[in-house]
Amino acid sequence: MTHADEPSATGNDTQAAILNDVLARFAATPDPRLRDIMLGLITSLHRFVCDNKVTWTEWEGAMAFLAKAASVTGPGRNEFIALSDSIGISMQVLAASQPKPPGATIPTLIGPFFIEDAPVFARGANIANGASGEPLYVSGRVIDTGGKPVADAVVNVWQSDDRGLYDVQDDFDPANMWGRGRIRCDAQGRYAFWSVMPTAYPAPMDAALGDFIHATTNKWWRPAHLHFAIQTQSADPLVTHIFVKGSAYIDEDVAFGVRPALIADFVAHAPGIAPDGTKVATPFRSLDYDFVLTRAGK
Ligand SMILES: [Fe+2]
Repeated sequence: MTHADEPSATGNDTQAAILNDVLARFAATPDPRLRDIMLGLITSLHRFVCDNKVTWTEWEGAMAFLAKAASVTGPGRNEFIALSDSIGISMQVLAASQPKPPGATIPTLIGPFFIEDAPVFARGANIANGASGEPLYVSGRVIDTGGKPVADAVVNVWQSDDRGLYDVQDDFDPANMWGRGRIRCDAQGRYAFWSVMPTAYPAPMDAALGDFIHATTNKWWRPAHLHFAIQTQSADPLVTHIFVKGSAYIDEDVAFGVRPALIADFVAHAPGIAPDGTKVATPFRSLDYDFVLTRAGK
């Protein structure tokens, strides 16, 4: 008998016996968390194969798909994270592992372009460093759910320019990053910076993710957003996005990262005086957003 395309015709007893054999072997896994996860994953996967009568051709196709994802994964690109994002599993992991009480800012996936040691700027400085786009002034506070400032917070922000590109996608020079920076909050938890408006951009469609999206939903854009990682020792750190209200693709984010509470008004202004007193000769935008952190893990 070969692994041809017959559905599993060997009967439920055999299917159950195969699963039981496998579970019995992995039940001896020493680490209890790893054991629970492996037993749960194996059980779900065996049931998925049985319930859907997965054929050998389909399974080989799945292996080839993963191999294609691996072939483009390396420094600066992780196709597996993109795939995880594209079926909402990244967001589900965050919701399951970082539940937030009402009023706290909810997390969103980190995405592929985060850099830990982004340039450090003074509060109110311009992080654009040549990034093109309409000027944008961002300010607000980092506070806890009781309204107290998170005074040791550092706001790490990164974003696309008006072409929809990040610095790491455009002849990246680690000594000359643009559209990203770290800003330390003051004693009241206030942060502020100047930058440019971010723009919607497509997910990379030249490999496994592209094959998958074209065969299924045909939706591969991310609406315009700023990425934030709020780094602190005194509260629970937070990674999230703030999405531009009214952006193209706001209702069909390929990564399922949009949540209503994370959509904000990037207020349009005529040329004039910005909220920090800066004279701006062109139209510009401003965003006022408070991040609310929990201290449950501290
Ligand atoms: Fe992004």
